[in-house]
Amino acid sequence: MCGIIGCAGCDGETLDTLMHGLSKLEYRGYDSAGVALSNHSLSVERKAGKLDALRDALSNSSLNGNGNGNESVIGDGSGVTTAGDPGNDAHAPVGIGHTRWSTHGPPTDDNAHPHRDCTGRVAVVHNGIIENYQELRDDLSEAGHEFKSDTDTEVVPHLIESALDSGIPPESAVLSAVSKLEGSYAIAAVIAGVDQVFAARNDSPLVLGVGDDEYFLASDVPAFREFTDKVVYLDDGEFAIINDDGWRVTDIDGEPVEKSVSTVEWDPEETGKSGYDHYMLKEIHEQPRALRQCLQSRVDELGGQVTLEELGDINPSSVQFVACGTSYHAALYGAQLLQSVGIPAQAFIASEYATSVPPIGDNLVIGVTQSGETADTLSALREARRRGARTLAVTNVVGSTAARECDDVLYIRAGPEIGVAATKTFASQLVTLSLLTLQLDGEEDNREAIAGLRDLPSNVQAILDDTKAKEIAEEYHDSDAYFFIGRGLHYPVALEGALKFKEISYEHAEGFPAGELKHGPLALVTDNTPVFAVVTGDGEQARKTIGNVKEVEARDAPVIAVTDGVSDVERYADHVLRIPECTPRTAAVLANVQLQLVSYHAAAQLGRPIDKPRNLAKSVTVE
Ligand code: F6R
Repeated sequence: MCGIIGCAGCDGETLDTLMHGLSKLEYRGYDSAGVALSNHSLSVERKAGKLDALRDALSNSSLNGNGNGNESVIGDGSGVTTAGDPGNDAHAPVGIGHTRWSTHGPPTDDNAHPHRDCTGRVAVVHNGIIENYQELRDDLSEAGHEFKSDTDTEVVPHLIESALDSGIPPESAVLSAVSKLEGSYAIAAVIAGVDQVFAARNDSPLVLGVGDDEYFLASDVPAFREFTDKVVYLDDGEFAIINDDGWRVTDIDGEPVEKSVSTVEWDPEETGKSGYDHYMLKEIHEQPRALRQCLQSRVDELGGQVTLEELGDINPSSVQFVACGTSYHAALYGAQLLQSVGIPAQAFIASEYATSVPPIGDNLVIGVTQSGETADTLSALREARRRGARTLAVTNVVGSTAARECDDVLYIRAGPEIGVAATKTFASQLVTLSLLTLQLDGEEDNREAIAGLRDLPSNVQAILDDTKAKEIAEEYHDSDAYFFIGRGLHYPVALEGALKFKEISYEHAEGFPAGELKHGPLALVTDNTPVFAVVTGDGEQARKTIGNVKEVEARDAPVIAVTDGVSDVERYADHVLRIPECTPRTAAVLANVQLQLVSYHAAAQLGRPIDKPRNLAKSVTVE
């Protein structure tokens, strides 16, 4: 949902550092990209399209020392007054960059960030939504400011310009502009002649990286992890300044705020593709490792105990989950698990929960969010807190907003996930919620369940080593629509199978509770609509789902059974995606791996941009 970066102290490497950072942030949006470099002058290059379009533009740009850029370069000889010392070019340029997921205005060159003021001496990048931008724009227009884009962001450089024009020094000018904004923002700004990058945060992620004589600001740590593992997590209402001498954080009144520096525990290599064609495929294959990390030192197999040390004394009488998308599917699974051990639990789509909050009572409210930055989920959690609930974040990202704002946090430990389609984080969410259930269950002896979890990494590996997913994707990739059905714990898997399929293949796919198909969706089933049915074990649920499989088979739909082979579902299926025999709880994780692979191969067959599906972004920081 837009990625921003800023850097200072990078010597001759400022542009390379920005472009490297943007390549790591492109998962947050890829409608356009741009950079600005500032020393005694300010230069901007920006382009609609993916980062490669910007790279092409830069190859013929003055920013790269090659020819003239497409955008004006204001500075020596321009006759335009800069805000600092126009003659001072002793410092290497500071810079900012942006990769965009459009909210206001289509993805065009003009709407690409950085945006500038009338004189071209201020450049700003922004992630979020400025809710009062129309009002600010009207006032500024009346005062003679001319706007060139449809974006909400463009008001910010003009506000800074106004403040500079009235004689306010640069730092105070940016603070004054920020104090006028309502809504969500992570902003970074540079001003010609000023060797600093200014940044502010409210309801949008922003982290500060502390290197050896080089400093960074970014929406997310991978943007600068290559250069430092030292991070300062900024909070809402904070303002940061970096230059080649160091960094400072203040509040919006300019009063210093003391911040601690944390160390990131993952390696920069974890954010590369490691030889895979796509991040998604790499991340699917990383699941055994991610699950081992998730379980590590949390289970005592001999004693049958689960210990989630972070959680301390949590012992809720009932639970409400809030989450979006894939994380909502994990929440549905978590709610079923808790109910199975006698703890009343419900899962809510976060945006609906925040819109119409159910009675909270004694509920523990759990936000399941990979990124910890999803605006809808944060909003639901904040509303729950406001009404007195204790909140718990189940998240992947250390230091994320959800992790910091909730009363408690439980990390899923999946490692960085770059592919826009969530894969390994979903598996790790399911396992983390299994662990949570076992801890809350109060059973003395959970040896059997723990053994099932312990076997998961090798069972996932067995699927990765031997799967027919690719053949099935090839056979059916040209169908009219794709349906996914499952019952009980396999219902969230059916929903997730369909979501993954549609988001990366762009084909129509729907997930249903198996029993619901006959209440309407069956009308859509034909001989050209493959139905993926998740059936494990041979109990009552399997028997009933097999009944639903027969119903679609009778309508000539191709059936692909995702099964452990215990029931006789294979008799009614055209193809089988086999998973190792396991408990129903772990079967959900395994069946999902097969469905992830089907989606991946179908999308590859169709030539889709798998890691960057159209219109989507990984971290959705607007409501
Ligand atoms: C789909 C996907 C999204 C996210 C959703 C919530 O593959 O990744 O549906 O699950 O946007 O994101 P988080 O978990 O970061 O809150």
